Amino acid sequence: MEQYIVKGGNSLVGEVEISGAKNAALAILAASIMTDDTVTIENVPDVSDIRVLTQAIESIGAVVEHPQRHVYTINGSQILDLPVDNELIRSIRGSYYMIGALLGKHKNAQVALPGGCAIGLRPIDQHLKGFKALGAEVRVKPSGIVVATAKNLHGAHIYMDLVSVGATINVMMAASLAKGITIIENAAKEPHVVDLANFLNSMGARIRGAGTDVIRIKGVERLHGTEYAIIPDQIEAGTYMFAAAATRGDVTITNVIPKHMESISAKLKEIGCQISESDDAIRVVATGRLQPTNVKTMPYPGFPTDMQPQVVVLLGLSNGTSIVTEGVFENRFRYVDELMKMGAKVTVEGRTAIIDGQDAYTPATMSAPDLRAGAALVIAALSADGISKIDNIHYVERGYEDFPEKLRAIGGEIIKTASKEEESSALRRLNLKAIS
Ligand code: EPZ
Repeated sequence: MEQYIVKGGNSLVGEVEISGAKNAALAILAASIMTDDTVTIENVPDVSDIRVLTQAIESIGAVVEHPQRHVYTINGSQILDLPVDNELIRSIRGSYYMIGALLGKHKNAQVALPGGCAIGLRPIDQHLKGFKALGAEVRVKPSGIVVATAKNLHGAHIYMDLVSVGATINVMMAASLAKGITIIENAAKEPHVVDLANFLNSMGARIRGAGTDVIRIKGVERLHGTEYAIIPDQIEAGTYMFAAAATRGDVTITNVIPKHMESISAKLKEIGCQISESDDAIRVVATGRLQPTNVKTMPYPGFPTDMQPQVVVLLGLSNGTSIVTEGVFENRFRYVDELMKMGAKVTVEGRTAIIDGQDAYTPATMSAPDLRAGAALVIAALSADGISKIDNIHYVERGYEDFPEKLRAIGGEIIKTASKEEESSALRRLNLKAIS
């Protein structure tokens, strides 16, 4: 089984370039099939979730080309009336964006229900409610395939019962090709919601208000081809900022939009780090003891749930007691048992974790339970003096491009191994380096 072997204890120092946003790319690649013209998408991160989604898009007849590592061209003019379904598709969350895209363009979608990280129940009732309001008939087959069909889609006034990134994105896609005006109230405001709106507008859609609570979409007859570059990944950037802090490092994160990072930068300042910003970079310097604080995760512009495990890891190294409350998903502390193997002192009560900070973690062998928690365990391992092992890293690779390579470039000692032989050789290399 693939794993990371980490020799912790070094302060991370240097520069890391952030890749395109995975969650924006998933929505935008799915939306690319909403025109018969060719669409070119740049700055697509090279991560496994994206490879799965593009295979799904190809499997229903779209022509997908991948001329460079971060560039895809997609032509959906020959799409067949086939269900989007296989084991891989069921494994990723982003596949549900195919429902909005196919329903909008073809008025007919058959897509296997999404999987993704096990961080809560994750129902899609708000997506389905939105599609129904637009005039679609929606049912879920016993096989787990969502079938959404419509003769015509029409605009509607939709109140979301809760703030949902996925439902906002899905409804925005379908409504772009509906007749008349759709208003989404209580919409999600995440940077990738805005990125998808900008992308659809560059294809001729008429979406206003993305990034606020109310999004207004005037449906158009057709969308046309475009060239578009995905925004940088807010959570990847935040993860490296927290890795810098946990290792008392000095790291400059480049190719970011500092505005997207405000809640994360503010928290790091409270914890005692120095943060400086330029147009597209943020420098994090951490010296001395980290301070405890309280955090509640919330939809954007609040502190992101996708940074919750990373902040728990960091606060575990602070000088006192902190409380972290998970405000988005109901079951996102499953990794705490793994972190406790490193000696972390964390008590979880429902959606709240109480963390007693200490000087350092002790190295351990752990298992990544999901994508962001996996990255957080790597941060903990990088901070701990000695050798830790983390398996189940396919989760981490769903969303972090070149994770070990980027960490090595700033002084992290981390090696990915796929066999016992590779593990022994990695351990030899890491130990030799320690002696020399
Ligand atoms: C997106 O998930 C992201 N995934 C998640 O990123 C991220 O954690 C989440 O938004 C919140 O920011 C993708 O973009 C592919 P939601 P999504 O709909 O769309 C409940 C990562 O690590 N809800 O905003 O599934 C839901 O259960 C991942 O990159 C309903 O009850 O999140 C949750 O409690 C993990 N009914 C809350 O709303 C619905 O119909 C927010 O979910 C929809 C959601």
